[in-house]
Amino acid sequence: MRLVLIGVPGAGKGTQAIKLTETYDIPQISTGDILRAAVRDGIPLGREAKGYMDRGRLVPDRLVAALVAERLKGDDCRKGFVLDGFPRTLAQAEALESILEQVGESLDRVIYLELAEEEMVSRLSGRRSCPGCGKAYHLIFDPPRAPGRCDDCGTALVQREDDKEETVRARLRTYGRETSPLIDYYRKKGALITIPGVGDIDEVFQRLVASLAGVRE
Ligand code: AP5
Ligand code: MG
Ligand code: ZN
Repeated sequence: MRLVLIGVPGAGKGTQAIKLTETYDIPQISTGDILRAAVRDGIPLGREAKGYMDRGRLVPDRLVAALVAERLKGDDCRKGFVLDGFPRTLAQAEALESILEQVGESLDRVIYLELAEEEMVSRLSGRRSCPGCGKAYHLIFDPPRAPGRCDDCGTALVQREDDKEETVRARLRTYGRETSPLIDYYRKKGALITIPGVGDIDEVFQRLVASLAGVRE
């Protein structure tokens, strides 16, 4: 199953991607998580990406497309993958298509997680993230078992740098300008599924799984 998740910041892409990895036994590829790890590790990719991320702008297409091309070569991607946060521009969508074409593959579905702006703000302001494994929690909607610690790896949870209010607003503008055109792009290709992102995490996931019934695994 080859999937893409698109949606505003805080729509639940990462949260639902992790659940999809368990159900379909496919890896999650989050460009945001990969870039944040590169920033944390101080590698050249991270040094180049940081300024864009801190301003809520997109990291240049060539950097992100190259990292995804490399990641998709992994053995674990043979059965499929769920891309979380990529593509985010038309140029990235075209790059992805040509990466997949080279190996005779194509996307099965592009899932658009639709969420209203007010909802997004309360989700992002309560989010706490694990810098170790990338998993996100929510102070009210999805708290960790031990306060302030990741359930999976025990790392102390933090608030993401770009979850400050003014950066959230910039991310939303970037989304509207550069990423939202992808919805029509994939709709025209007949690959788009729109899933309402409201409701609790399991409710949204049930909707998602129902909409994927019959799509090859
Ligand atoms: P990225 O990390 O992808 O951030 P984003 O798109 O802004 O999305 P988020 O991760 O903030 O939200 P999400 O949809 O994953 O929501 P989550 O599941 O965590 O990108 C960050 C930056 O990296 C970009 O700004 C850019 O600079 C750069 N970048 C990344 N990819 C790039 C690319 N392809 N090209 C160029 N630059 C790129 O959920 C949010 C919160 O809500 C959590 O607390 C969660 O617990 C809670 N929650 C989730 N679902 C529910 C629910 N149903 N009910 C209640 N609470 C819920
Ligand atoms: Mg995310
Ligand atoms: Zn963790």
